[in-house]
Amino acid sequence: MQNLLTPYNKNISLKNRVVMAPMTRSRAVNDENKPTDELQGLYYEQRASAGLIITEGSQVSERAVGYVNTPGIHTKAQVEGWKKVTKRVHDKGGKIFIQLWHVGRISHPDFHDGELPLAPSAINPNEQSYTPDGFKDTVTPKEMTKADIKTTVEDFKNAAKNAVEAGFDGVEIHSSNGYLFHQFFNGTSNKRTDEYGGSHENKARFFFEVLDAVKEVIPEEKIGARFNPSLNGVFGMTMDEDTIPTFEYIIKKLNDYNLAYIHLSEPFTDVSDIPYAVTEIAKHFRPLYNGTLMINAGFDQDSGNEVIASGNADLVAFGKPFISNPDLVERFEQGLELAEWDKDTFYTPGKEGYTDYPMANAKQNA
Ligand SMILES: Cc1cc2nc3c(=O)[nH]c(=O)nc-3n(C[C@H](O)[C@H](O)[C@H](O)COP(=O)(O)O)c2cc1C
Repeated sequence: MQNLLTPYNKNISLKNRVVMAPMTRSRAVNDENKPTDELQGLYYEQRASAGLIITEGSQVSERAVGYVNTPGIHTKAQVEGWKKVTKRVHDKGGKIFIQLWHVGRISHPDFHDGELPLAPSAINPNEQSYTPDGFKDTVTPKEMTKADIKTTVEDFKNAAKNAVEAGFDGVEIHSSNGYLFHQFFNGTSNKRTDEYGGSHENKARFFFEVLDAVKEVIPEEKIGARFNPSLNGVFGMTMDEDTIPTFEYIIKKLNDYNLAYIHLSEPFTDVSDIPYAVTEIAKHFRPLYNGTLMINAGFDQDSGNEVIASGNADLVAFGKPFISNPDLVERFEQGLELAEWDKDTFYTPGKEGYTDYPMANAKQNA
């Protein structure tokens, strides 16, 4: 049974359950960090047979950036650029959400005229930031003031408004993978003693303030949120005994909202030795959430069909397979072999390794 290829209709209506996962490709190589018709337009159009595309993380403000050549969604030029992308996807019958991104402490002063990156607490993640001059070590960030938090809430709201103007079908809040919201959720990166630190409610407060602000400008059923509960040892995240209970609190509370979906990742690393990690994320969180559950990380066609059949997920997001197989859905339909991705061109400029992966059926290129 090809569950992946069956339509889905709950808040969002999708022609299949194969979602393109958000992937930074660092091709917005221009002074404005805007997407272009030739590159991002073509790239996403080629992948429009996905039930849903989620774009690469796109910074909500200047302060939100942490990697060179990533696109934004906070200037007029960026909105105009995205308009071309959404049109091309829609013209091919596809749907596209934009991932709204703030990296928090995974950044560098070089991006901020020498000022420190923002974070819940002044704790260096000891990671690297990909700056215009190459990889540089992260620094001890600035603990966000309440004014910084307020400004950032407004930045997300403004970005969501821009996303509507740019023609997106919805937005995904990037509350995952060790970036700003995840830094608030986690006790090793959030040592605050005010109402944004300590209890589950406090660690999640900033995220829910953003969600409440975003839903003022775009309906709840067009908002998704991404979480990676068992992320450990990468992107500056270390789990502690309160990590999973914090995510349980957040995901249960999201039942009070009528979101498009929650988007969960299975662990990115082997966490079987960590006593307080959950090794099967979809299975663990499914009973806690009544809405649409999208799952990701390491799936193929068989395991994707199985996870839907098991009832543990409704939608499956594929990352790397979509890099090298623009026609992933057609390949699933026809049982065709998948092309391998080349990790050396994940983040390089231009069309190589980006828009030049062929369709299996050459006629589809014409
Ligand atoms: C090149 C690349 C860039 C990525 N960029 C993002 C991103 O911008 N936002 C995000 O949430 N995840 C990002 N991810 C993670 C993917 O969305 C996905 O979780 C990961 O690739 C695992 O799924 P897969 O096994 O299907 O590839 C990225 C992954 C890759 C390979």
